[in-house]
Amino acid sequence: MKVPPFQALILAAGQGTRMKSETIKVLHDLLGEPLLGHVIGGALKSGAGRIVTIVGHQREAVEAYLSGHDASARLEVAEQVERRGTADAVWAARPFLEDREFEYTAILSGDVPTMPGETLERFFRETMESGAAVGLVTAVLEDPSRYGRILRGEAGVEAIVEYKDASEEEREISEINGGVYFVRTEFLASALSTIMGRPADNAQNEYYLTDIVALAREQGEKVFGHVVEDERFIQGVNTRADLAGAVAILRERINRGWMDAGVTFLAPDQTFVEPTVELAQDVTLFPGVYLGGKTTVGPGAVVESGSMIRDSEVGAEVTVKAHCYLTEARVERGSSVGPFAHLRPGADVGPGCKVGNFVEVKKTRMEAGSKASHLTYLGDAHVGEGANVGAGTITCNYDGAKKSRTEIGPGAFIGSNTALVAPVKVGKGAYVGAGSVITEDVPDKALGIARGRQRNIPGYGDK
Ligand code: UD1
Ligand code: CA
Repeated sequence: MKVPPFQALILAAGQGTRMKSETIKVLHDLLGEPLLGHVIGGALKSGAGRIVTIVGHQREAVEAYLSGHDASARLEVAEQVERRGTADAVWAARPFLEDREFEYTAILSGDVPTMPGETLERFFRETMESGAAVGLVTAVLEDPSRYGRILRGEAGVEAIVEYKDASEEEREISEINGGVYFVRTEFLASALSTIMGRPADNAQNEYYLTDIVALAREQGEKVFGHVVEDERFIQGVNTRADLAGAVAILRERINRGWMDAGVTFLAPDQTFVEPTVELAQDVTLFPGVYLGGKTTVGPGAVVESGSMIRDSEVGAEVTVKAHCYLTEARVERGSSVGPFAHLRPGADVGPGCKVGNFVEVKKTRMEAGSKASHLTYLGDAHVGEGANVGAGTITCNYDGAKKSRTEIGPGAFIGSNTALVAPVKVGKGAYVGAGSVITEDVPDKALGIARGRQRNIPGYGDK
């Protein structure tokens, strides 16, 4: 049986005070995407046709994030004005329950970010196949701590009792409620109106969504409990320590996937690859590497320790030596970058090039085989094939008001400690003497030299 189109509600109204942050909890970053983004991603992967985020605290910030999200499903928002419990939160989305567009409604938490989409989809399908009105994900924990406890009888799950309401014996139960549900929409709407229509008569004076389970059983409906395959999938984020735990869970899953695909990690627990990155076979990643955004790394490339690469294209057989920083840059086949190089947006390094230590490159194309080996700034420049840019060369691309371009011809040789004052052009096969300040074009094959002539004063030391 295929899961029919369903909608997902994501609870995200709480501030998350235990994070001790100015930022609402669900917008905290987890490997390049906020927690909420991961939950939306899981809902999309499992096939949600509409996703309704229930907002409260920092509504504007959450909505701003949602409006920048290029999801393939409709993203909607419902506002919970007062935090009166999880049933009240879902109740805030009742227009989306009453329009009956979707036969089933999934309920997820914005702070449970590591549930894989495939696991969700399997759980949704099993709930449907079981014919249950309510499906919920449970886990059996060694330390069930303060989670809601699952009460099972002969016919399966009968109720959920919150920790604060539970008796001593009930607290002994190790099966807990993971807070992920898949519910027949019609039943959900009617159960919620029952819960909201009576006093919130419990230890927390909150309207409990978990009461839908007992209500289903009272009405002779089936409840399906899916014991999660890996208890880390339902791990919620409440504190910064939990957030670090979620990073570890996701990092381990991502890195394992790449190792299975033929990538070497010298220390997978010290290497971070955001889910949006693509790695080819035989890539080698040293400890302390962070790859983010839409980065791609080609076959046989090596990235050494301490390098951070974002939204960049690293070609086949490229070596990025230790401690480089690349953003929106491109490096073609067989080139070598670093150590300590900075490739900024628009750095476009051709094949077989060398960008050495303490070299910064911005909006510059370096053609095949060109080199800038030491202590150089290349900005708004074009470096011809095979050109050699000597140590300490600086393109003076900015006069305080506007940026200008520098053209270095193929095979040109720029002597050390040269300032190229843009706009300026060094011709094909031309030379520039070391220590020059070049303000005028150097013709093809010419030697341009622009510096004070050396004067030796004899006997000066005796004075
Ligand atoms: C809830 C469950 C509990 C389960 C646990 C799993 C209830 C009554 N209990 O408990 O059985 O074991 O989750 O993690 O549902 N929220 C709102 N508005 C509110 C209240 C909560 O949006 O008025 C959001 C929170 O921001 C959070 C989520 O709902 O994202 C869960 O709420 P929380 O208070 O953390 O539930 P628990 O007490 O942990
Ligand atoms: Ca609570």
